[in-house]
Amino acid sequence: MTTYRIACIPGDGIGPEVIASGLTIMRRAGEITGRFTIETTDLPWSCAYYLEHGVMMPDDGMQILADHDAIYLGAVGFPTVPDHVSLRGLLLPIRQGFDQYVNLRPVRVLDGIPSPLREGNSKTVDILCIRENTEGEYAGIGGRFKRHTPDELAVQTSLYTREGIGRVGRYAYARARERRRALASATKSNALQYTAVLWDEVMDELSLEFADVALTRYHVDALAARFVSHPQSLDVVVGSNLYMDILTDLGGALQGSLGLPASANLNPERIHPSMFEPVHGSAPTIAGKGIANPLAAVWSASLMLDHLQEPEAARLLMGAIEQVAARGPRPADLGGSASTQDVTRALLRALDAA
Ligand code: NAI
Ligand code: MG
Repeated sequence: MTTYRIACIPGDGIGPEVIASGLTIMRRAGEITGRFTIETTDLPWSCAYYLEHGVMMPDDGMQILADHDAIYLGAVGFPTVPDHVSLRGLLLPIRQGFDQYVNLRPVRVLDGIPSPLREGNSKTVDILCIRENTEGEYAGIGGRFKRHTPDELAVQTSLYTREGIGRVGRYAYARARERRRALASATKSNALQYTAVLWDEVMDELSLEFADVALTRYHVDALAARFVSHPQSLDVVVGSNLYMDILTDLGGALQGSLGLPASANLNPERIHPSMFEPVHGSAPTIAGKGIANPLAAVWSASLMLDHLQEPEAARLLMGAIEQVAARGPRPADLGGSASTQDVTRALLRALDAA
């Protein structure tokens, strides 16, 4: 039996509700497979913490996290704190500080949950989205000048590096090789002649190394349309931080609800811990009601188990998610009336029956 040490940051709003569900399901999968137990360090870092301490996490926050096998995060952000404070004070430092340069986001329609696409089903929508997670448009370089004057201006620069593009590109090619060997690269090199052209050049160079993978380049606007018009033509999609942030919310909408999409912030070399979180935010309007959909958090837990090299437990979790999607009970965002706990119990039953 292995003991995994997981740093839990449930965060704000529905974060704590869905993370509790994910931990319950993961622990049961550990019992069933007889392979692992989970020990958590519960960290209260959140907007509530910020209001009390003036920071989203303490000074030694990164050191505390570093000593874990993985980080499990709910969502941070609440109407009482500006979003750029919560994002720049917690999420981005973790993603950038731990060099979690791959943000992996599966976009799959589960049978039983209607996609808004007429032909949306598990065969037509199964896209692995890979977002560059440490640089690009989110590098945080820039400034605001002549504040509070009529001449006020703001500059924010995107940062693209050969190394940054190369490593996420190589990861994407490798994942495409495990699937349908088709890699779509999101670009905008018609308008962005410096950053996006470097992106394209590095992706092209890599195609020599991965000659068995077909690379197709799409401008990001056309790619957004393709997500809706021809999703079955897409297998693995890779793009910059901002482009994939936007495309994966579109992907979440195709999946039928933001209560479903999951995400992994990976440091593929495993020098630092990786972080797993649902794509959705803290959903303040439904927080505290016990009705949040836990499936995105549980799906993220399945990605965590994959990363921890527990493929059997990861598959068990996905199987339980697929079964609950197909047969219910459904939470409110999927048109049902089940509570978070009802869905969690149904997942446990599905695990036990597997
Ligand atoms: P949101 O994802 O919290 O909510 C968008 C819509 O989806 C709402 O109608 C919400 O009720 C619904 N929804 C989301 N997750 C759900 C779930 N599990 N079950 C049922 N319904 C669900 O996005 P919003 O409203 O833009 O942001 C709220 C706060 O969350 C903001 O402060 C934002 O900055 C933060 N946020 C944090 C993220 C993170 O920590 N990674 C990601 C996105 C937003
Ligand atoms: Mg987003």
